[in-house]
Amino acid sequence: MLLVIVSLDFIEQGFQIFCVSVSSAGSSTFFFYREAFFAFYRVMATSVVVTRRLPSALLTKILARPSTILHYHDSNDAISSQALLDLCGKDGGASAIICTLSDPINQAVVQACMGKLKVVSTMSVGYSHLDTNVLRENNVRVGNTPGVLTNATADLVLALTLTTARRITEAANAAKVGEWKAWEPFWMTGKELYGAKVGIVGLGRIGESIVKRLRGFECVISYTGKSGPKEELDRSLGTKWVTSDELYSTSDFVIVICALTPETRGMVNYESFSKMKHDVVFINASRGEVVDQGALVRILKERPQMRAGLDVTDPEPLPLDHPLLSTNQCVVLPHIGSATDSCRSQMAEMTIDNALAALDDGPMPAEVKL
Ligand code: DGY
Repeated sequence: MLLVIVSLDFIEQGFQIFCVSVSSAGSSTFFFYREAFFAFYRVMATSVVVTRRLPSALLTKILARPSTILHYHDSNDAISSQALLDLCGKDGGASAIICTLSDPINQAVVQACMGKLKVVSTMSVGYSHLDTNVLRENNVRVGNTPGVLTNATADLVLALTLTTARRITEAANAAKVGEWKAWEPFWMTGKELYGAKVGIVGLGRIGESIVKRLRGFECVISYTGKSGPKEELDRSLGTKWVTSDELYSTSDFVIVICALTPETRGMVNYESFSKMKHDVVFINASRGEVVDQGALVRILKERPQMRAGLDVTDPEPLPLDHPLLSTNQCVVLPHIGSATDSCRSQMAEMTIDNALAALDDGPMPAEVKL
């Protein structure tokens, strides 16, 4: 008679299962019980899918949750849609998906979770990659990361605005390739931000933060957006709400920082560009899809004095042969608005906290009201 006692506390802290087999059949019976236990445990446990590599110190928060299994795409590359479906379908279906802005969460993903999905937590403030109708219909809660990225993104917008207006990348490259000869009175001249008329499309948290920075440049700032004038802000920041037509036609700089919604998709089109000044500096740090990119290519060709700075494109990444990458009139950044160490760490932590809170049916640090 053989007595086998196996402690499985390596599966989760503080959780011990003793598998007792009293059998003369020896190890094969024990292995049968062990495998059966594992299968049972996995189906009963809460499965959390993480679609991108995150700091392991943060992942331990997920593993510290009782009876929780992590299905992890441990890579800096985006997960393929098939791999995401596979992870979501493991062990009876995922209860939580922790994703990034490049992971579309749609009907197929929700179905792959086999009715278990409780929360999608995205490591971004924008959530246009989530099918919110499908999530609402399936009672899935959504978390995002507002607030923690406001300053980092506003800083980047300022940097991109100055880079574009003052031709920084073009000038730095000229120095590298030997185009820098003697100091020349009108070489590499750009446009001055100080005192300029700046129009902001979408005065949310980040827009407001951009305005605060621009006040240091003594800019005259107007804004447009469907929520209309924000009187208190206008009083404290000296801003003015105008119609989009007025903003386009009067601004030296146009900065787009609104959310991507069905109403804003393709909103800045050829007609909008045609209303802008010939030498406007156009900045987009919202989502690529807000701008008709074909129209932008066309208008830049027609107006050699116009410049554009884009932190977002459609698609992302932009194909290497895309005309916007080969013109000096345009500066393209790889969506780095929030890319500071401290900001991304806070975003990652908030994303995990959102998911864990929802799994326990508690209040999430930041929940999107669907
Ligand atoms: C967001 O969070 O939506 C930004 O675009 C990425 O930082």
